[in-house]
Amino acid sequence: MHKSVQDIINMKKEKKKISVITGYDYSLASLCDKAGIDVLLVGDSAGMVMLGYENTIPVTMEQMSMFTEAVSRARKNSLLVSDLPFMSYQTSIEDAINNSGRLIKAGADAVKLEGGSIMAETISAIVDIGIPVMGHIGLQPQTTILSQGYKVQGKTKDAAIKLIEDAKELEEAGVFSIALEMVSHEVAQIISETVNIPTIGIGSGAGCDGQVLVVQDVLGMYNDIKPKFAKRYMNLSEDIVKSLEDYKKDVELGTFPAEENCFSMDKEELKKLREQIGG
Ligand code: KIV
Repeated sequence: MHKSVQDIINMKKEKKKISVITGYDYSLASLCDKAGIDVLLVGDSAGMVMLGYENTIPVTMEQMSMFTEAVSRARKNSLLVSDLPFMSYQTSIEDAINNSGRLIKAGADAVKLEGGSIMAETISAIVDIGIPVMGHIGLQPQTTILSQGYKVQGKTKDAAIKLIEDAKELEEAGVFSIALEMVSHEVAQIISETVNIPTIGIGSGAGCDGQVLVVQDVLGMYNDIKPKFAKRYMNLSEDIVKSLEDYKKDVELGTFPAEENCFSMDKEELKKLREQIGG
């Protein structure tokens, strides 16, 4: 049985840190699940790392449903949370409920949406029908970048108070956890100590109850943007390019495929074939 929303909430009470990583496809998500990652997040960052968009704004429900289905076939142990993409929940509460339902039908256990107090009513409505919601405040890529670009959030007293109030309102609205993106570490720590539900930080310091990173950043596979907060545990893109160069060389030299990569005919059948065609 895979982890439940309640398991993740309990981890905060048990003072256990929560590991979250993004996943979009079957092969990599299987490895993340095997590694024991607590939560797989089908983030709308898929638009950038999987589809090559400049930001997350063009991502559609169809794309998020497809990525969610792929990851749901891969996971055995982790909780699966899926992002509601831009304009799939901001338009009306009805849209928010319908689209949350689509992601749950695609295999998600919970949905994530961006926004503070302004989203409280929408969140309550989704939670009321039985779909768990993860909140997302601080830098909100679907909207903050339109007005401010990628900027650390919560650097002034007033900005910090707004973030703390947003976190409290999201908790009251019923979210089971809150992602804090690029929030100054002091404010992230205060929020984590203020709310009873787990906070999941990305670029928000060690005081959060858990951490989330984009899997391509962790593996060193995505080079368009290299955020300061993302720790690279390997440089897979170098290994991939080197392996593909070796493959190309083998093909050109005829050293691939070798005998062990080929399938043989029955010797007697081959003899008969040669007799018949005169080869
Ligand atoms: O889309 C995403 O990957 C996210 C995380 C970075 C929090 O929302």
